[in-house]
Amino acid sequence: MSTIDKSGWFPIASSDDLPLRHVYHGELWGQELAVWRADDNFVNVWENRCLHRGVRLSIGTNLGGELRCQYHGWRYASRNAGCTYIPAHPADAPARTICNTTFASHEQYGLVWTNLNACSAMPDIEALDAGSPLPLRAIAVNASPSRVFAALRSYEFPELQGAPHETDELDQHALVIRTESGDKLAFFIQPVDSGRAVIRGVLANAPSAAEQGGLLRAHDHQICRVRDLLESEPVPAPDSLRQDPRPAATSISVSAPRANRQAPLRVMVTDKTKVAQDVIRFRLEPVDSVLPAVQPGAHIDVHLPNGLIRQYSITNGPQTTDAYEIGVKREADSRGGSTCLHDTVAVGDLLALSEPLNNFPLRRDALKTILIAGGIGITPLLAMARTLHESSLPFELHHFARDAEHAAFADALNHLGESTYTHLGLNPADTGAKISASLGPYADHRHVYICGPAPMIEAARESASALGWPEPAVHYEHFKNEQVIDSSTSFEIALARSGLTLKVPAGKTIIEVLRENSIGAVTSCEQGACGTCKLTVIDGVPYHQDVYLTPSERASNQVIMACVSRAKSERLVLDI
Ligand code: FES
Repeated sequence: MSTIDKSGWFPIASSDDLPLRHVYHGELWGQELAVWRADDNFVNVWENRCLHRGVRLSIGTNLGGELRCQYHGWRYASRNAGCTYIPAHPADAPARTICNTTFASHEQYGLVWTNLNACSAMPDIEALDAGSPLPLRAIAVNASPSRVFAALRSYEFPELQGAPHETDELDQHALVIRTESGDKLAFFIQPVDSGRAVIRGVLANAPSAAEQGGLLRAHDHQICRVRDLLESEPVPAPDSLRQDPRPAATSISVSAPRANRQAPLRVMVTDKTKVAQDVIRFRLEPVDSVLPAVQPGAHIDVHLPNGLIRQYSITNGPQTTDAYEIGVKREADSRGGSTCLHDTVAVGDLLALSEPLNNFPLRRDALKTILIAGGIGITPLLAMARTLHESSLPFELHHFARDAEHAAFADALNHLGESTYTHLGLNPADTGAKISASLGPYADHRHVYICGPAPMIEAARESASALGWPEPAVHYEHFKNEQVIDSSTSFEIALARSGLTLKVPAGKTIIEVLRENSIGAVTSCEQGACGTCKLTVIDGVPYHQDVYLTPSERASNQVIMACVSRAKSERLVLDI
């Protein structure tokens, strides 16, 4: 059996220290910890500081699936501690590389354990394994862990449990007291730092309710006596810290631009359920790791068994951090992506995914948010609605579908209160009228998010414009770019940062030319729909062929979607 010392696992809290939506301040080897239980019962153990200003997260707010810093409101997702929202930048999704430091967690014997150097499995504590353990009152002591350990030998097992007794020292931070009658009491010492420790006791077999009161009183008396004894003695030099209190990993990492379509995540399909005519929901659980944080509006690239790569929006709300859920519609003109998922991919299959990208971020500072979804366009808006509902922020979701059979995720929408409206079987004119009525004249601090077929998005944008909605308040996402792409022109691109000048011939895209010259460029849809490949134009006139940029962005000539767009001028100078 591995000992506590060798394994590196130490208790840092009692399970009872983590009631619903509480955040507990723990400390181990000088490392401050924020410990909190998510609503799905997962216990998070994180470095106790917000990445923004270093404020303690243990004074933050446990939102059930996210932890919000009390200072400037940065939010971090359960499990992976990825930053999901930065209030000072409400229009932008935080970079997915902003993550707090997490530590392994384990809950057993009524205690919460962590390991700052995590790799080994939590060892079994033989003395406690067979019984029904009862954690006893923990007590903090101003004495070095080694002194606490020595003093515990004078602890006298409460008379109620029988005497005499003997003591087994498991290692320098754990000992077990055994009575002749076979009862066992394990003590674990939590080294807070070199001069402080917490004593955590666990009785192997919980006594009857009638006996518990007397036993707990006796323990209380004994453990206070040990503490008083230690704290009344002259203080010798403290222990040296036996572990590096801080992990070597940095909290914030910024990746180099990735080449297209890397798929570092491995997931298993654990559920495949029909949620409407021609629409299937897939639940994708990580195979051996924790999935990165996901923000509402984000999508993933799914690498399919037939070699194709397709993008799907993640429908998760903030409460779901253990899996990604996507909705896939069988496209009538499928080129093999949706049919593969519908017909071939089954529960138990493994898939590779990209990390989530979010080019359709949700502001959470709007006085009211309107969500307008057409058909399968419900998927990113479902994630947004779940987030707004969870945060009690005002919103309306309008879902347009052909009929009830085609209205996907109806069950999920039913759980979002009275703010969701489903409109069935409307013709284009009635749909337009309903959208206008839903939007109403613009009022300050409102935002609308639209996703669905291209004609519906255009109709909604025109309605919003006619009703006085400013462009920055109207957000939309196309699934695909249905325009015919003109790639007949050739032009030059000058790369301002590297000084290179490259020729983009007819039939090739800017992205393809960059890659041929080993210049990393991040892309996803490669159709001009998702916004991932946006580059800044310093000089020249782009020939826009995407469906992502807003009219004013196009008119500015300052940005270009490099996967489809080209140049009207002979040369473009790009900020790359
Ligand atoms: Fe999606 Fe270019 S990769 S817009």
